[in-house]
Amino acid sequence: MTRKIIIDCDPGQDDAVALLLAFASPDELEILGITAVGGNVPLQLTQRNARMMCDLAGMQHIPVFAGCAEPLERPLLTAEAIHGTTGINGVDVFEPETALQPQHAVDFIVETLLAAEESSVTLVPTGPLTNIATAIQREPGILPSIERIVPMGGAMREGGNSTPSAEFNILVDPQAADIVFRCGRPITAMGLDVTHQVLSTPERVQRIRALGNPVATATADMLNFFDRYDTKKYGSEGAPLHDPCTIAWLLWPEIFEGKDCNISIETESELTLGHTAVDFWNVTDKPVNTTWVYGIDAPAFYDRLVERLDRFGGAL
Ligand code: BDR
Ligand code: CA
Repeated sequence: MTRKIIIDCDPGQDDAVALLLAFASPDELEILGITAVGGNVPLQLTQRNARMMCDLAGMQHIPVFAGCAEPLERPLLTAEAIHGTTGINGVDVFEPETALQPQHAVDFIVETLLAAEESSVTLVPTGPLTNIATAIQREPGILPSIERIVPMGGAMREGGNSTPSAEFNILVDPQAADIVFRCGRPITAMGLDVTHQVLSTPERVQRIRALGNPVATATADMLNFFDRYDTKKYGSEGAPLHDPCTIAWLLWPEIFEGKDCNISIETESELTLGHTAVDFWNVTDKPVNTTWVYGIDAPAFYDRLVERLDRFGGAL
């Protein structure tokens, strides 16, 4: 069965790899649209970067929409220190041929979901949750069409990567995250507890580079850049490849482990703003709203990612 998805992203090298993995998987995933949000870098760059990935992969027919430039109630926090000034440093940027659709991303999400059958569309947010929350606020009638939301965001055992308590995507727009996690639709969340196990070691990046097709080469170049900051920060032998975990879970849920629990978002405390309170041991009576993913077979993930990227050499 092909699953209909909307990818809501802020590319970002790891968002870019998530897009490429989805592009390489047409038997399993039908991408209804890509919606960009301000996050790692400002919106005018994230929407451009998303369109660049479409050009690179020969997917110019996929509609790309620009959404919210700023979080709901806070100024935008960006992450050039990690992703570089373009968001996808490691590859040279260019003005893509893939068109930017005139419609606002939130209008696209609302219109698409209102027209969709019940539980038929999966939302895959890999940036701050501003576009998704705005769509839910504007038209709660979209909720029944959402089959599941599969965000990259949050942290429990790993602690935060932007503050001691908070992961970047949740910290940037905690109010939006709060709306999404309380929306009542099924959620499978890929937080740092799982993404920090998915390290792009030099050996793994070299396997991708060795594929030799232009998409694989660009992926290796982006991962090399992405690696610099995180390797120093974590002392690991490669940067975590966060966002592709979302697409990988849709493709291969059997390589992940998770647990159903409640997640609530801290929206007020200065100290712990953006914290995801994961009730892993069910110590509250709050309702289950999320499958919190905490484990992955990382070697299997990379084997399968390499196989998919190899498809850009001709099989797609
Ligand atoms: C998340 O923050 C961004 O920098 C990455 O693209 C990823 O979505 C990881 O915390
Ligand atoms: Ca991202």
